[in-house]
Amino acid sequence: MRNVILIAPPAAGKGTQSELLKKEYGYEHISMGDLLRQEIAAKTPVGLKIAGIIESGALVDDDLTITLLKNKLQEIKGKHYCLDGFPRTIYQAQEFDKVLGELGNEDYVVLYLDLNEDVAYKRIAGRLICSCGKSYNIFEENLKPKVAGICDNCGKELVKRSDDNAESFKTRYQVVLDNFGPIKEYYAQKGKLKIIDVDRDVDLIFHDIIEGIKND
Ligand code: C5P
Ligand code: MG
Repeated sequence: MRNVILIAPPAAGKGTQSELLKKEYGYEHISMGDLLRQEIAAKTPVGLKIAGIIESGALVDDDLTITLLKNKLQEIKGKHYCLDGFPRTIYQAQEFDKVLGELGNEDYVVLYLDLNEDVAYKRIAGRLICSCGKSYNIFEENLKPKVAGICDNCGKELVKRSDDNAESFKTRYQVVLDNFGPIKEYYAQKGKLKIIDVDRDVDLIFHDIIEGIKND
């Protein structure tokens, strides 16, 4: 299977769809947001530097992000992967192609998960996550946990992400407005871009993602 890049506004379901790609097709799921949050959790020098930035919803320095990603790609070399949450700037997109050139595999498809701002915000407002990676939405009947506040999968307590609030959301969505136009154009010109409407059921979206990967 081809490597996949998922770009999308916040709460479009990048993580959910990546986990399905992992489960059904053996993809390595590389979440840029998770790589950054792991640095924070481990209190590394990088983590201490970026904690406030992530909390505010702003973007971490491009070169720092690219270095973390490059290390991860080296670690999983030879495996097929889906990249979630990267690139978020045109510079990241261009540098990524250089890194792939060095690593010797430049084959990928880009899927843009399209969602409007109001729906994205509604999802953010209702989202609860578990440390096992599963996420829920308390406002949607089929996405609620069976027992309020508890993960169906592992029984741990669900929490709200610290950047899932109105103020950070505004900043995160502004990042989309400021950067995603040029990114989409960059990939469209390369003939690598596909757009998928994600204001639909998870299964329908996943079906289109698989079609997008296969029919290239
Ligand atoms: O993708 P996710 O919503 O998990 O990203 C969380 C945060 O991580 C972003 O709001 C941003 O602060 C940071 N991030 C970044 N650059 C990326 C991906 C994520 O700065 N390429
Ligand atoms: Mg995510």
